[in-house]
Amino acid sequence: MRDAAARHRILIGTAVEPSYLAEPEYAKILSDEFSMLEPENNLKFGQVHPRPDTDPNPYDFSGPDALVAFAQAHKMKMRGHTLVWHNQQPRWVTGGGLTPDQLNKALQSHIKTVVGRYAGKIFAWDVVNEAFNDDGSMRHTVWYDRPGIGFADQGAAYIEQALRWARATDRRAKLFVNDYGAETIGKKSDAIYAMAKDFRKRRVPLDGIGFQLHCDLSFDRPEALDSFKANLQRFADLGLDIHITEMDVRLRNNSPESLDQQAKLYGDVVKICGGQPRCKVIQIWGFTDKHSWLRNGHGLLWDENYQKKPAYDAFLRPLLGK
Ligand code: XIL
Repeated sequence: MRDAAARHRILIGTAVEPSYLAEPEYAKILSDEFSMLEPENNLKFGQVHPRPDTDPNPYDFSGPDALVAFAQAHKMKMRGHTLVWHNQQPRWVTGGGLTPDQLNKALQSHIKTVVGRYAGKIFAWDVVNEAFNDDGSMRHTVWYDRPGIGFADQGAAYIEQALRWARATDRRAKLFVNDYGAETIGKKSDAIYAMAKDFRKRRVPLDGIGFQLHCDLSFDRPEALDSFKANLQRFADLGLDIHITEMDVRLRNNSPESLDQQAKLYGDVVKICGGQPRCKVIQIWGFTDKHSWLRNGHGLLWDENYQKKPAYDAFLRPLLGK
């Protein structure tokens, strides 16, 4: 997959947990088939920065460092996930003990430290993850909530600030906002689009949009796929890159019919990305059903026993031009 995709200048990525690298099949498929990886959990605030800055040892870089080493050994790129999110945060952040000013300083130093450590090693960052509600309003989080990190009632101002801190730390990294449920045109993608348009106009350092694409077979309808295509196009027209960041296709069962439908949907998404010059990454959220966050959802390209599923061939075929 990685060689076939390289001919289209597309990176094929997957989410990874370092502990699985000890399984030989896991490590082999990862390095043979993928040109990119992303820590599934290791760079989330709670894992990488579990203790406050007053602690002698506030950070734990062991997981992401191991993944950087693997990526470099196998000539893979690495994506960073994620700097600002409402989930998987440490108690010292969410506990309510910090004033807006302290929260602001904590986030700034978090971004500087983490982005700085991986400058030149991580080529793109999900700077902010899942900042929007499905109705297009902004999600209430510790970072946003009035006064959040100090921007009372100013909408996406905290996102802008996070992007600026990231850019100030690593001028070369591509900076993304990432979300789910924004693949097709609708209230949520409209809100992200309006923000992105404003950011581009004002030269706020936003380089691209991450579309998670956790989906099920209901996405395999012409209306959904056409809307997805049109949505990518409008973001591309703003001069933004597009990364598909967390794809999986949840199934109710793994009957041959379901597996074939799943395969078709993977193929359709690869074709749509391949047809959009600004779509530069297709990443799946894990690759073996053995280690999927969906548990029994059969969502990925390899089954629990590391056997290729029909989805593997369907994913590869358009990359081979077939
Ligand atoms: C998930 C991981 O896959 C799980 O291992 C973890 O327990 C919870 O988070 N959207 C995201 C990802 O942006 O970070 C989430 O990852 C899945 C949904």
